[in-house]
Amino acid sequence: MKTGSSAKTPTKADAVTVFFTGNTLGALKPCGCTGGQLGGLSRRSTIFNRVSEDKRLIIDTGSLVEGRSEQDEIKFNIILQAFRLLGYDLVSLSEEDIETGKNVGLLDDTGSLFNIISSKQSSGVNIPAKFTRNLLLRGEPVLVTIAAFDAKTTPIEQISQLFASGVNPVQVDSKSMVNILILNHCDDTIIDFITKRVPVVDCIVRPSESDEPRVASSLNNRPLVVSVGRFGRYVGGLQITESPAYKGKPRLSFLTIPVTEELEEDASLVQLYKGYQQIVGERNLLEKYQRFVLPDNLEYSGSESCKACHEYEYEKWSQKAHAHAYATLERVGSELDPECVSCHVVGMEYESGFVSEQKSSHMKNVGCENCHGPGSEHIRTAGDTALTEPKSGCIDCHTPDHSGEYAGNEGVFLEKIVHWREPSSDGSVK
Ligand code: HEC
Ligand code: HEC
Ligand code: HEC
Ligand code: HEC
Repeated sequence: MKTGSSAKTPTKADAVTVFFTGNTLGALKPCGCTGGQLGGLSRRSTIFNRVSEDKRLIIDTGSLVEGRSEQDEIKFNIILQAFRLLGYDLVSLSEEDIETGKNVGLLDDTGSLFNIISSKQSSGVNIPAKFTRNLLLRGEPVLVTIAAFDAKTTPIEQISQLFASGVNPVQVDSKSMVNILILNHCDDTIIDFITKRVPVVDCIVRPSESDEPRVASSLNNRPLVVSVGRFGRYVGGLQITESPAYKGKPRLSFLTIPVTEELEEDASLVQLYKGYQQIVGERNLLEKYQRFVLPDNLEYSGSESCKACHEYEYEKWSQKAHAHAYATLERVGSELDPECVSCHVVGMEYESGFVSEQKSSHMKNVGCENCHGPGSEHIRTAGDTALTEPKSGCIDCHTPDHSGEYAGNEGVFLEKIVHWREPSSDGSVK
């Protein structure tokens, strides 16, 4: 998909592409629960490799993971390795990235992985704010400079210094320079200031408010203001082409490239993800998951415990997809990942619910109590204590991200799980 510009797609020979990703936020790979999902580190390479190495720069603008949990730290490490395998040239680390990286001792040798910059100067870590690389456009050098600026706490007047120092204007013809500024905060005042006072800035990368990359300015204006999207669902491509039309400076256009399921996966990245699943298992994250006690001394009992009195319902249920939801995770190797298991078993958030295959095998799969509620009292009283109303619970798991078809087809989904004797008391889902 091409955004905006009417420019003809340049041939490889006369374009340089700066690929942008960012805000991966721990999304290593789409969960695979539902069709048509975008994203996945393993598919990015197909997009990057459409452009030869000497005609491209690959940049990540930071925010690798969402939080600071043990799983986030594992992901952080995996994403850095992925960047290396994918041939990233530069990663601009956010303040949080630096903290997480320091925590896990990963910033000590990133120099050997790829270049890093950051707008945040942090104690004990010496990271530059700027990176430059010379690329060739029709045999002529183009000096691409990428700088990170902390617009949250630094006066914007200091932006000019970023580009003024370091590059000697006598040596480098300004016509063959492209200056890109990565901001951690952006508003109209800042853009206005840059437009009027720092005209050397050709492109501003502002924080993303949506999953999809955006061009937030007119394509023919400088600076070009873009954002890179979230969760790795798209790759942004800033194309630099020769253009006599724009004051002699290279011409810029911006492409939004979806990371679709049709793109081939890179084998080394597939392997890396398997390694991730293994680490998640070895660290025992499932058992470490924080669990709460159910109210009213209730407990989960497991689907087997309903069988004796509800044989009909049990038999019907056991032929449906819910009854093999755990095997589905085993098939894809994610059965030890709490981020997946939560919706594929009974009561993972609670003490009497699923803990692990070894400790609570009877809580595997989407069972009776996912929908009818914890059954201990109902069983103890041989059915005298009513269970909870089941239908409202579907949406807790059948969210748009995990069940794209659900919304609008509630009746069809309900029809597929019928395990009760007809007619049911009320056929529609609310
Ligand atoms: C000891 C026998 C027994 C066991 C075990 C048992 N039930 Fe029941 N259940 C009953 C009886 C009897 C009724 C009918 C109660 C009534 O409608 O008066 C009933 C009714 C129900 C109903 C319909 C009425 C309501 O309360 O919503 C549901 C749903 C239900 N059971 C689910 C379960 C689930 C889930 C389990 C396992 C956690 C389970 N039952 C275990 C005996 C049992
Ligand atoms: C605890 C989470 C959870 C809840 C609650 C839940 N589901 Fe599901 N559902 C799943 C999972 C996980 C699968 C995939 C099972 C598999 O194939 O391994 C699934 C699969 C299904 C399928 C099969 C889809 C297909 O195309 O074959 C239907 C139908 C369905 N659910 C309907 C419902 C309805 C209706 C409700 C509410 C009454 C509901 N689900 C509640 C997690 C849940
Ligand atoms: C919010 C709840 C939820 C979470 C979290 C979740 N799933 Fe699912 N998963 C579902 C539901 C619901 C379905 C059934 C979707 C449908 O049929 O519409 C499903 C279906 C699946 C399927 C079956 C797809 C098919 O049709 O064969 C796979 C595989 C799967 N999930 C893997 C995962 C993995 C891997 C993770 C973790 C990365 C995960 N799930 C996390 C709810 C969840
Ligand atoms: C995915 C959610 C889900 C799962 C899993 C599930 N049920 Fe149900 N169950 C429902 C829904 C929805 C109804 C229909 C309720 C209605 O129409 O009022 C229902 C109806 C029933 C009824 C009839 C209640 C009545 O009042 O007519 C019984 C009994 C029952 N389920 C028992 C079970 C047992 C036992 C299991 C496990 C073997 C189970 N259910 C698994 C959602 C579920």
